[in-house]
Amino acid sequence: MKISVDSQDPNRASSDLLALPLAALDSATRLPARAAAVDRALGGQIRDLVKSGDFKGRAGETLVLFGRGRGAPHRVLLIGLGDEAKLDAEGVRQAAGRAIQGATARRARSIAFVLPAAGKLRSAETARAAAEGAVLAAFRSDLWKTTRKNGPPPAITRVTLVAERAADLRAARESAALGVTVAECQNVARGLSNEPANLMPPAQLAAEARKVAREAGLRCRILEVPELRRRKMGALLGVGQGSANPPRLVVLEHTPRGRARNTVCVIGKGITFDSGGISLKPGAGMHDMKHDMSGAAAVVGILRAAALLELPLHVVGVIAAAENMPGGTAYRPGDVLTSMSGQTIEIQNTDAEGRLVLCDAIHFAKTEYEPDAIIDLATLTGACVIALGSYATGLFGNHEDLSEAIRAAGQRTGERAWPMPCADEHREAMKSQIADLKNVTGGRDGGASMAAGFLAAFVGDTPWAHLDIAGTAYTSKSGPCQPFGATGVGVRLLVEVLQGWQRL
Ligand code: BES
Ligand code: MN
Ligand code: ZN
Repeated sequence: MKISVDSQDPNRASSDLLALPLAALDSATRLPARAAAVDRALGGQIRDLVKSGDFKGRAGETLVLFGRGRGAPHRVLLIGLGDEAKLDAEGVRQAAGRAIQGATARRARSIAFVLPAAGKLRSAETARAAAEGAVLAAFRSDLWKTTRKNGPPPAITRVTLVAERAADLRAARESAALGVTVAECQNVARGLSNEPANLMPPAQLAAEARKVAREAGLRCRILEVPELRRRKMGALLGVGQGSANPPRLVVLEHTPRGRARNTVCVIGKGITFDSGGISLKPGAGMHDMKHDMSGAAAVVGILRAAALLELPLHVVGVIAAAENMPGGTAYRPGDVLTSMSGQTIEIQNTDAEGRLVLCDAIHFAKTEYEPDAIIDLATLTGACVIALGSYATGLFGNHEDLSEAIRAAGQRTGERAWPMPCADEHREAMKSQIADLKNVTGGRDGGASMAAGFLAAFVGDTPWAHLDIAGTAYTSKSGPCQPFGATGVGVRLLVEVLQGWQRL
């Protein structure tokens, strides 16, 4: 999909379909300039529809019109934006998503999308949001279907964003290009997360990361089992030992030209399938545990963006990949593992495996890169899903400014991150009677904070944020920019954080 920004008369846009977003308006208010021009070409149809109340501009409302005369667009898709005063980037993203969905359903190959000149958004922000929405909406999650009657609908190859004013074109173009890159990186993360576990064992996840690294110009290192043993990553190895598919540690590294302001390590949980291990999960919903590597998938997307956007930061991605399976060689409840840090861990539940693979990745990142900050992403706890649902990602950490930067970026990007506690009490609760730590408390209380408390024992005083994406990484509810399945959450959020990075 090629996305460009132009300021031509929308009536002259040579596209299969003209998408025209309109805020809610009553019959007394004048149409915005672009819409008024289209309305004239359509012989006043839009005005009539508004007058009669057949099109109200409510968010999500759509309606198709045909232009019959010369100089009129052949097909127009009206898209409601809702209350103009409340229009934000997410509203524009969704309108663009609806345009793509509407066009795809009508088998259009190219569309022109009139950028709404509404609300408090600057035109560059509108262009970026529309570009993101279009790219995200074009993502497909039904790649394994072979028996569709007419085959998959043709992909939309060309999107022209029509800007209100020629004066804003340069900023709008730059901003749209940024949106395309970030959204494509989010789609990379979605694609990896959606891949079934039989097709994406740890070695394959590592290979996919390497492929992305090659194309984007990232350094990539893959540590296999003998190397993990040499480095004494007993926790990652312990989780992986029950599977026929051995674990991997993957490192992706973006080194900017010139001096880097800071080193930031982004760490992803990469459990390619979480059966629970010997503490086997119940069957219902277990298939969703193919998404238990969504943190790792986000890391691949984030590093790809860091490279393509040439961020002036040293960004290191670390992926701890393993498959959590029961079997004759699996680790068991009661086992004691020695982590890379030397801290020993009593296993009381093999289903609390995410914190185990992460603790070795965290120690590796700390000792290998001495980062200024560590941010991890993990589908870590069901407790976080209970607390926040899909409304927001759980945000934990040990550094006020870092947490605030992430929270604020969540508001701007629409990938909300909600502050949750990780206190001394939570750390204390993870101490074992027979080893340094245990991997569960034994109760359900405060499960998401307890998991963060466990990780804190490996972080030390490096500024750190932990994002529990268990409730936000995948969805069964599709939306304008989101088909069923992986969301690619964390990519837009952390690219925004890294772009605005301030020394901690
Ligand atoms: N991968 C799961 C967490 C999860 C649950 C992710 C639901 C997405 C949706 C994690 O490995 C897990 O099993 N956590 C346990 C921890 C418990 C044993 C302390 C959980 O949340 O039940
Ligand atoms: Mn688990
Ligand atoms: Zn898990």
